[in-house]
Amino acid sequence: MIALTVNGARREVAADPFAPLSDTLREGLGLTGTKEGCNAGDCGACTVLMDGVQVCACLVSTAQAEGAEITTVEAADPLLDRLRAAFLARGAAQCGVCTPGMLMAALDLLRRDAAPDRAAVEDALGGVLCRCTGYLQIIDAVLDAARGTVIAPPADGRVGAAIPRLDGAPKVAGTELYGADDAPADALWLRVVRSPHAHARFTLGDLDAARRRLGLEAILSARDVPGLNGFGIMPNLKDQPVFADGYVRYRGEAVLGLLGDRATLAAVRDADLPVAWEVLPPLHGVDAASMPDAPRLHDHAPGNILVRGHLRTGNAEPAFATSAARAEGTFRTAFVEHAYIELEAGHAIPGADGAMTVFACTQAPVMDREETARVLGVAEDAVRIVPTACGGGFGGKLDVSVQPLLAVAARVAKRPVRMTYTRTESMAASTKRHPAILHARMAADAEGRFTAFMLDGDFNTGAYASWGPTVANRVPVHASGPYRVPNVLNRTRAVYTNDTPAGAFRGFGVPQAAIATEALVDDLAIALGMDRWEIRRRNALGKGDVTPSGQVLHASAGLPECLDALKPEWEALLARVAAHNAAHARHRLGAGIACMWYGCGNTALSNPSTMRISLARDGTLTLFNGAVDIGQGSTTVIGQIAADALGLPLASLRQVLGDTALTPDAGKTSASRQTFVSGRAAAEAAKALRARILALANAGDGATLALDGSLLTVRDAHTRRVIDLAALDADLVAEARYDPPTVPLDADGQGVPYATYGFAAQVALVRVDTALGTVKVEEIAVAQDVGRAVNPLLVAGQIHGGIAQGLGLALMEEFIPGRTESLHDYLIPTAGDMPAIRIHLIEDPEPEGPFGAKGVGEPALVPTAPAILSAIRHATGVRMTEVPVLPHRLFAGLEGGEPPPGPLPSLAVGD
Ligand code: FES
Repeated sequence: MIALTVNGARREVAADPFAPLSDTLREGLGLTGTKEGCNAGDCGACTVLMDGVQVCACLVSTAQAEGAEITTVEAADPLLDRLRAAFLARGAAQCGVCTPGMLMAALDLLRRDAAPDRAAVEDALGGVLCRCTGYLQIIDAVLDAARGTVIAPPADGRVGAAIPRLDGAPKVAGTELYGADDAPADALWLRVVRSPHAHARFTLGDLDAARRRLGLEAILSARDVPGLNGFGIMPNLKDQPVFADGYVRYRGEAVLGLLGDRATLAAVRDADLPVAWEVLPPLHGVDAASMPDAPRLHDHAPGNILVRGHLRTGNAEPAFATSAARAEGTFRTAFVEHAYIELEAGHAIPGADGAMTVFACTQAPVMDREETARVLGVAEDAVRIVPTACGGGFGGKLDVSVQPLLAVAARVAKRPVRMTYTRTESMAASTKRHPAILHARMAADAEGRFTAFMLDGDFNTGAYASWGPTVANRVPVHASGPYRVPNVLNRTRAVYTNDTPAGAFRGFGVPQAAIATEALVDDLAIALGMDRWEIRRRNALGKGDVTPSGQVLHASAGLPECLDALKPEWEALLARVAAHNAAHARHRLGAGIACMWYGCGNTALSNPSTMRISLARDGTLTLFNGAVDIGQGSTTVIGQIAADALGLPLASLRQVLGDTALTPDAGKTSASRQTFVSGRAAAEAAKALRARILALANAGDGATLALDGSLLTVRDAHTRRVIDLAALDADLVAEARYDPPTVPLDADGQGVPYATYGFAAQVALVRVDTALGTVKVEEIAVAQDVGRAVNPLLVAGQIHGGIAQGLGLALMEEFIPGRTESLHDYLIPTAGDMPAIRIHLIEDPEPEGPFGAKGVGEPALVPTAPAILSAIRHATGVRMTEVPVLPHRLFAGLEGGEPPPGPLPSLAVGD
């Protein structure tokens, strides 16, 4: 037994003295508020105080902690309470998985320094990574707590009120349960053995003998999958095996599953398993996979082409050839890792007659149910998916991860099974942002009006399809940017390779395309001697304009207003840059600008959401909300919409969330659709319930409602009626389904792909050290048309977080299989990397949206990287064509040469 003093109490725990303190706190003492995101000291999610000083609990052995005073997020502490309140008020917890670590780091600071400045806060939080918030609201919260100026939340939660998130309290208390935080005590552990090779055949030896020799409960392989050994997003393309069957297509592919107790699993080395490999030449990158003699990786994909996308309007080639100004370029982007701080985790519990319940972090519970049932070979209603709290997703938890593995294992074991990916496993096995090679051309007339745009884009979809078809089809619609362009020809391909599967990541290919398009817009401005703001304003899509898909934008097209809002910012930045650069040679400032548009929801596909609301006879008002909140705030926003549409206070509404057995299908949390689509469904359900109530009371449309226990008071201009709900025969229940109106695209990409679009523009100020090739983003001003800001606090958080991820895309993030599979080697922005951000919200209401709202989350990311590249060019004259703009690439450009393509030359790793 080891004696620990935790949160002021002496605790004795049977633990391995060498076990990480984080593990002992979680598994030994049940203090799961301390999160584990990497077990390597890189992410800081496990930050606790040891004798008052912040430490990564994953780097402290349990024996080291003996005798020390350990403080975790569960501690009762007045200063911690003040921080908790400030975090809630500022919207500083989104998914919340970093929040315990942030709170501990802040507590450490405020105990040492009661009045820190902003730099001190950034420094204190520097060891804790957050992938959601962009840090600014966290820093503000810590400053508020230090100053005792915690913002009082608005009194009511109507649409438009900047209330704290409804699910925030457990996040700041450390009681929120994520995928790894809960499992039955008798659960076995599952560990997956993954391929070390990108392309190989393999044979398995005597697994039963290995199981006995290693003391395992079972070793699972493809033969243990009772149903279809395949999954994938596309309905008719289940091309990824649960366990590879003699052939692997990427490094990290699941080969075997080891079932046993945790200590036994930890002692097994991959080399202990009887797997004989025949390594095959891998196809890395689109160029290799497109060679005429390249082997075909999937039978259904000749030439390794998964899918092609296409859009044509007008006659682009001749328009380009005869235009006054022309621009052209080839642009490259890298694999980008989602880097959600919560690792993939969950557990499965088998039931009678083939039933299976899976608890896991996910963005798409209904899709998970379909996939899991197919893998198990059972009917969908035999499977129940219960989403745990989701510690960040950004598209990466749209594909199943642990779900089918756990289900197969629990079926074989006939008892509960749990698993948590390691960080290396998560990064090696999970989907990424598609790397792209984009060859684009754009032209304008002498007055700067765009005349033509052409794109040929190849997207590396990796070993399996995942969301490749979605990317290939979304990009052609968006690639010419949010501009009037009469002649467009866009062609895309998603290409299979032996790289990590690429999938959905905040923007579905649009952020990559925007890098190319916005660079060409700058080229044209320069060629014509126009201001970069001016050329965008002259061509900006607005109300009544026609998109390249032939869609008329009847409403909610606020890009002109966005640009107008930014004009003073832009002119001020240009003046500052000119003044600074006149006096400085090495450290150059630059101002950049970029615009974006983004269709909310699926591309030209049915995209429904169903919501149900009930008013029970005991007066309990419940929204059955199947939309998974992955940190973006849908639980709060949809709650605000439902309560406001019904006409009762938000405080009287409880929610049943995202359980496939309890809630109707709200669709997946992706494509910036939940506020728009599920919000509209919630509004319609609430309006239907209101209509029933008004009919019962024989009251007019403008009546007000008040609920007191089971007594519902309905008051209009003339009368007041009290309905005793307890006297009714049944609960009052209303359900509504909303499917945004779209029109399928024809062979030329003509139709109505989305019911509405988000629009935004950003201007960036960067400082470039021309001697080192380093870039610091100092300021970003954003104007974004959100239709209606249902909750401005959460909207700001989405914009900050999107900018942070856009900054990472532009300057630092590059996933290389086998080389950057940790948060030490793969860098994401920290608190110190964030610029000052100024937000101008444009509210051009969307008639289809609830209260005029439309999607926010993905649009915030899209313009950031191109605005930064535009600013780098302004500062240095170097037109960068590959992201991330790492110092060696910019330095090469500054030296006058072409920036080198591809990653830094270095040691070859594996194959
Ligand atoms: Fe920080 Fe999600 S709120 S990682």
